[in-house]
Amino acid sequence: MTVKVLNHPLINVLMTNLRSQETSSFEFRYTAKKISSLMAFEVFKDLNVDRKKINTPLESFLGVKTKDPKPCVISILRAGLIIAEGITDIFKDVSIGHIGMYRDEKTLSPVNYLIKLPSNLQNRQCFLCDPMLATGGSAISSLETLKQNNASDITLVCLLASEEGIKNVKEKFSDVTIICAQKDNHLNEKGFIVPGLGDAGDRIFDT
Ligand code: PRP
Repeated sequence: MTVKVLNHPLINVLMTNLRSQETSSFEFRYTAKKISSLMAFEVFKDLNVDRKKINTPLESFLGVKTKDPKPCVISILRAGLIIAEGITDIFKDVSIGHIGMYRDEKTLSPVNYLIKLPSNLQNRQCFLCDPMLATGGSAISSLETLKQNNASDITLVCLLASEEGIKNVKEKFSDVTIICAQKDNHLNEKGFIVPGLGDAGDRIFDT
């Protein structure tokens, strides 16, 4: 399994704002989306393309276009929406899927409330978006859903991942790539990433 922690200075400045408790909900939303857009360059680095011949005003040129079937960007609701928005602001030629899920605050187990995906994910590059990889429960459950829909080329895109979450995903899905902006080394007793950034969904949507 490949794990890429970007730790890029431009992203790290924005992640510092995101982590700060002083950051308001609208700034948090704006910043999370901006970081996701910056991450798009790494996320789509291995995008499948076909050759495309065009004519410039001067002569013919052999360029590239997105390969069919198009990649699929999947948000784990709610908070994944903002990551998907940020990366698709940069690259729009994608299908979009949604997996509705929340983490039961007592058991920490993921509960599904919606699955809406393109009919077949076979041969598609799938980009699963969620700002937080904490215990890994939500990601693992979503990865199982994607596998049941024949996905085989999956990248998990997060802002912040915990060591434990990465380890748990790795144990179950050795073929999945994880790209995150930053990594923290532990979870507290409530399963929150520490020092973390709090509850991403609540901070994004001000709930
Ligand atoms: C948060 C977060 C992830 C999940 C991470 O979602 O956005 O989906 O928890 O935790 P895990 O790795 O331990 O599963 P939350 O349940 O708060 O739902 P929300 O996006 O609707 O706020």
